[in-house]
Amino acid sequence: MTTSLELMERTHTCGELRGTDEGKTVLLKGWVDSWRDHGGCLFIDLRDRYGLTQAIFNYAELGQTLDAASSLRNEFVLAVEGKVVSRGENINKNIPTGEIEISVSRFEVLSPCKVLPFEVDDDTNAHEELRLKHRYLDLRRPVVQKNLILRHRLMQLARNYLSEHDFMEIETPMLTKSTPEGARDYLVPSRVHGGSFYALPQSPQLFKQLLMVSGYDRYFQIARCFRDEDLRYDRQPEFTQIDLEMSFPTEETIYGLMEGMMVLLWKELLGIELQTPFPRMTYAEALDKYGRDAPDTRFEMFLTDLTDLLKDGCGFGVFDGAIEGGGLVKAINVKGKAKEYSRKMIDQLTDYVKTFGAKGMAFAKVKDDGTWQAGFAKFLSEDLMKALSERLGAEADDLLLFGADPKASIVNESLGRLRIRVAEEIGLIQPKQYSFTWVTHFPMFEYDEEEERYVALHHPFTMPRPEELHKFEDGGDLSDMLANAYDLVLNGQEVGGGSLRIHREEIQKKVFHALKIGEDEARAKFGFLLDALGYGAPPHGGLAFGLDRLTMILAGTSSIRDVIAFPKTTRASCLMSEAPSEVDDKQLQELSIALRKET
Ligand code: AMO
Repeated sequence: MTTSLELMERTHTCGELRGTDEGKTVLLKGWVDSWRDHGGCLFIDLRDRYGLTQAIFNYAELGQTLDAASSLRNEFVLAVEGKVVSRGENINKNIPTGEIEISVSRFEVLSPCKVLPFEVDDDTNAHEELRLKHRYLDLRRPVVQKNLILRHRLMQLARNYLSEHDFMEIETPMLTKSTPEGARDYLVPSRVHGGSFYALPQSPQLFKQLLMVSGYDRYFQIARCFRDEDLRYDRQPEFTQIDLEMSFPTEETIYGLMEGMMVLLWKELLGIELQTPFPRMTYAEALDKYGRDAPDTRFEMFLTDLTDLLKDGCGFGVFDGAIEGGGLVKAINVKGKAKEYSRKMIDQLTDYVKTFGAKGMAFAKVKDDGTWQAGFAKFLSEDLMKALSERLGAEADDLLLFGADPKASIVNESLGRLRIRVAEEIGLIQPKQYSFTWVTHFPMFEYDEEEERYVALHHPFTMPRPEELHKFEDGGDLSDMLANAYDLVLNGQEVGGGSLRIHREEIQKKVFHALKIGEDEARAKFGFLLDALGYGAPPHGGLAFGLDRLTMILAGTSSIRDVIAFPKTTRASCLMSEAPSEVDDKQLQELSIALRKET
């Protein structure tokens, strides 16, 4: 009796066979990617994650199995046995197996497939919701598989690189206490301790610092983090960090090691040689020139501050009001594009800046004689227009776009975003352009208007820059105190962030004091860390990369969901498993939880 193909091991994958394998008898297993009936014979592309191989079923040779062959449909799982034959003149140069095909002598359907909710194809136009509901099918699509393979390789490279540099991979708890990364926690109720909750980690921050106190001087972890925050194209409620910490580092040690890792990743994954050292920019410069703490340095078109030139008032209410209210007037110069931008396009830009809180957007088109065509031009004296033009480097046919608001943050954010949108529209950004920048000298504190107190911009364990420490003694204003914190920014996205940490109890106490975190609160929240700092804590510091964001950029996709196997929607739900879901009363009771009925 012949053995069923199901019980036999495949001899090759669907991406493996080449012209040199001609004449071999092989057994392949995979999914029917497509089929074509050419009268007399059936062509099937068999697919697995390694590629596609064409199999040819000759009706004349199939005998009794003919009916079964003609009932094959897309996404059936199939085993085919046959001979590798040359395709002769019909070589398919688009696929690596294109020189050959399998002349099928025997086959078996290992599993049929129901009517598909959408075509499993790279060019599917199925709605993302439908694809996420059937994510197991979506994950079969070669584009998605390519992203996950890239992610896997990235993780392997990072693991090896860090291990080779003496970093130890150590796991830290998932059921833990709140970590102060600024988002809301996901809480897990404790059954044993009714009324008490674990928090899922927003990052391994506290534990990695404790590992330094314990003498594991170089730690890393590919760590899952959980943050209940508003989701965007580059944010997920659970995401992954390449998290690391080291003892006795200088800032330079960290920059050098991390740049080395980026060089390796880009070389191995994209074949691109990155130049090091990466440029550095202070937070203040990033806000000033790019409007954002994550500057997109792929192109110039900087924000230009005009506030000082306009401080004496020009009669144009929008500018004067912004400055009187303590804000800014800034502009970008879109070189040579005045004629290209119609009124309608400018209205669209105005609507765009409004989504970032701007009340509107003044604009001017520079005429051939150097004067401006603008609704507010009548307010500007000849001298003032000249001075503004000079500052902006304005020439004939330039389009000047202005941001003015009593709130500097609105001007920066809206113009900073506008700068990127316009650059995309006019083609200033090339594909496969990778521009890294370290942003340094972040402020320690940021005022939270809702809470009416200062909060830590990075987190409360960040060390102030050494030259700033005296500000604690002076008892003065701490709002401009600078931190020893840094972000790695790539193409305008924050891909990593970290800091040198406080390793002395007395500095930690001062920071808590500045943050109005009382002694009792500090003890309750991070008493274990404070205790540990008193038992010989080495100077330490580290950083965490957003693995998903790095993968996204390397894969060239614009959605974080494209590089996560089972992502959540922007409403933080999983359309496939339908999580989150209600639980039954018994479970709630065991957890000492009563649901409040909203009336
Ligand atoms: P931070 O909060 O800056 O630092 O996070 C580090 C990096 O993680 C990525 N990231 C995210 N990615 C996807 N979805 C999210 N919701 C999300 N939030 C953050 C970003 C970011 O740069 N413990 C510190 C690190 C340290 O100080 O060592 C921390 O977590 O790419």
